[in-house]
Amino acid sequence: MKKIAVLTSGGDAPGMNAAARAVVRTAIYNGIEVYGIYQGYKGMLEGNIKKLEVGDVGNIINRGGTFLGSARLPEFADPEVRKEAIKNLEEIGIEGLVVIGGDGSYKGATKLSQEMNIKTIGIPGTIDNDIYGTDFTIGFDTALNTIIESIDKIRDTASSHDRVFVIEVMGRHAGDLALFAGIAGGAESVMIPEQKDTLEQVMERVNNAEKRGKKHSIIVLAEGVMSGAELSNKLKEQFGLESRYTTLGHVQRGGSPSAMDRVLASRLGNYAVDLLMEGISGKAVGIRDNKLVTTDFEDIFNATEHEIDLNLCEVSKQLGI
Ligand code: F6P
Repeated sequence: MKKIAVLTSGGDAPGMNAAARAVVRTAIYNGIEVYGIYQGYKGMLEGNIKKLEVGDVGNIINRGGTFLGSARLPEFADPEVRKEAIKNLEEIGIEGLVVIGGDGSYKGATKLSQEMNIKTIGIPGTIDNDIYGTDFTIGFDTALNTIIESIDKIRDTASSHDRVFVIEVMGRHAGDLALFAGIAGGAESVMIPEQKDTLEQVMERVNNAEKRGKKHSIIVLAEGVMSGAELSNKLKEQFGLESRYTTLGHVQRGGSPSAMDRVLASRLGNYAVDLLMEGISGKAVGIRDNKLVTTDFEDIFNATEHEIDLNLCEVSKQLGI
């Protein structure tokens, strides 16, 4: 393997820069030329590709977002579009590709390796922590810390006014951010898509907190269940409960990556290049029980349901959340 490329795709996540940095530096350390593809598959199609040196990835480990940029390109599903993109890779002589992103990004990589002689490895980068085959994705820890900071601040005003607050966090299909944030933020209730809690159950937890003498409550809601506005309205209509809601939104995707995300990204980026050098392809790297692992792209595509940590659900239940 003489030349590889790296791109970031899909929603950005803090720590993607650290992962790209690790890919670039590991490749160069091993005598491999490495190219950055800017704006994901869009940049591949448009030939927005640049050779990277060690210095090009200096001063980025601490930065959120992705210096390579990211874009959504639904047209990449079209084989004719991919043909054009492949030409750009073949012109440079790219033999391996590291894709940092989610399973949608891995699908593009799979198509490429079927249509050209290229080896592909995926690195899981998304704040949602919803990629099969890894305990944690890059960006999850940072987003979680951003949420906790917000919960702590909202609790200050909630307790001053004896109010109930609904805090809507990201996670279209996955409740990890909400569940972890609920536990770490000492929430009174959590609603996640994987557990179909009823509004009655949520009310019961709020009431239990009140019985314990707590005059304010925090309900952490994953966006995949419903919106904060919707939940707040329903609580009013069905139970006469007055509440305020806050949607944290894209603030959760930004910011300097946490130390845990930086280390995870560095390990995964380094491992991805090792695998390409061994000639391995069609797999995503990940971490399980603190060990680096790989999962076939196909297994990731077939895993339709996101798995929530059931032990953690039990912990939250026993803590009255
Ligand atoms: O990165 C994942 C995610 O943050 C989801 O939780 C959220 O619903 C979505 O991305 C938002 O994406 P977009 O930036 O396209 O609005």
